[in-house]
Amino acid sequence: MTSSSALRVGVVGCGYWGSKHVRVLQSLDDVSQVVLVDGRTDRVNSLLRGFPGARSFADLPSALPEVDAVVIATPPTTHTPLALAAIAAGKHVLVEKPLATTASDARQLVAAAREAGVTLMVGHTFEHNAAVDKLRSLVQQRELGDVYNIDTARLNLGLYQSDVNVIFDLAPHDISIINRVLGTTPAYVHAWGACHANSRHEDVAYLRLFYPDLAVSANIHVSWLDPCKVRRVTVVGSRKMAVYDDLAVDERIRVFDKGVTPPVDDQDLTQPPMTYRHGDITVPHLDFEEPLMVQDRRFLHSIRTGERPLTSGENGLAVVEVLEALQISMREGRPVHLSELAEPRPPRPTRRRRPVAHKTSLVGSA
Ligand SMILES: NC(=O)c1ccc[n+]([C@@H]2O[C@H](COP(=O)([O-])OP(=O)(O)OC[C@H]3O[C@@H](n4cnc5c(N)ncnc54)[C@H](O)[C@@H]3O)[C@@H](O)[C@H]2O)c1
Repeated sequence: MTSSSALRVGVVGCGYWGSKHVRVLQSLDDVSQVVLVDGRTDRVNSLLRGFPGARSFADLPSALPEVDAVVIATPPTTHTPLALAAIAAGKHVLVEKPLATTASDARQLVAAAREAGVTLMVGHTFEHNAAVDKLRSLVQQRELGDVYNIDTARLNLGLYQSDVNVIFDLAPHDISIINRVLGTTPAYVHAWGACHANSRHEDVAYLRLFYPDLAVSANIHVSWLDPCKVRRVTVVGSRKMAVYDDLAVDERIRVFDKGVTPPVDDQDLTQPPMTYRHGDITVPHLDFEEPLMVQDRRFLHSIRTGERPLTSGENGLAVVEVLEALQISMREGRPVHLSELAEPRPPRPTRRRRPVAHKTSLVGSA
């Protein structure tokens, strides 16, 4: 479909992840034109071979007059200036995770987008993943009983990033998944991380997030320096336990009817300290669709309707605040309360944003 209201979407940063956005956006009916933006001509040219209808520019300022919206898939430290420039030009913006590298930058983005009346969304791809939806419903419907704790592992050999450590690179996924599954944000955090194979950025980290209102703690292990690729989230409940393994494509979620029960009289040392229950393992059906496709379609939907996206700027800010608190905790070797961060989060908007009309047709503008 090429309608008069179809959108021209720029992808800023056409590397590993940006090229996936290009593929997805090219396939969506709502997009009239995908515009590639990257100074690396080798990358742009290789994408243009696969998508000859795309236009390309070496930098964002040149591309801005030719787009209605942009996806920013550049290194994390470049997100804020690029997104602010796009917002200032009245463009809708989807920023890859993490939204920004400081909470103050993330607040600035949220405020700028609100002021300009444009959609700001963050690429927390896992929140658009059917397996995470299932995990959330297992927890929210109390199928697992009381949640005792959540444990995640995101490990592999690489890919080392040049501008951020492993926490800013990988933990946004785990933090956003855990916040989504529990339906809230942590009150305080504790972090340990270390540099091994390089002296600039921590490549292994163990993180703890505390949700005292729910009496839940979450443990996150992220590493660029592990021989095995692992993408796993385990939720341990009083009735059942669930494991989400993103690498197990046919059974991403498994629910274990397993648990332990203490004896009635825990002073009676003639009895075993626990009795164990070993029941069935079930694999719930998931209507799985590529999460990036779902996410990018929802971005276009929010632009059209003015509806607040699931992974809104505020949602991105909440994750960046946790990242910043983890960074302080790691540096100072102590737990850090989110309330210690300099400024409070902006209040949630009470009114629905007015949908922004698009008059542009890009037919013939390539
Ligand atoms: N949501 C996910 O699951 C997911 C997965 C991987 C990466 N990411 C995110 O995507 C972003 C990009 O990561 P990547 O692995 O693709 O990096 P990459 O290094 O492969 O690609 C980055 C590209 O950005 C370009 N670039 C840098 N500065 C630019 C600028 N000012 N204007 C235009 N282009 C510029 C570079 O030339 C490069 O081609 C990061 O924020 C990363 O965290 C998200």
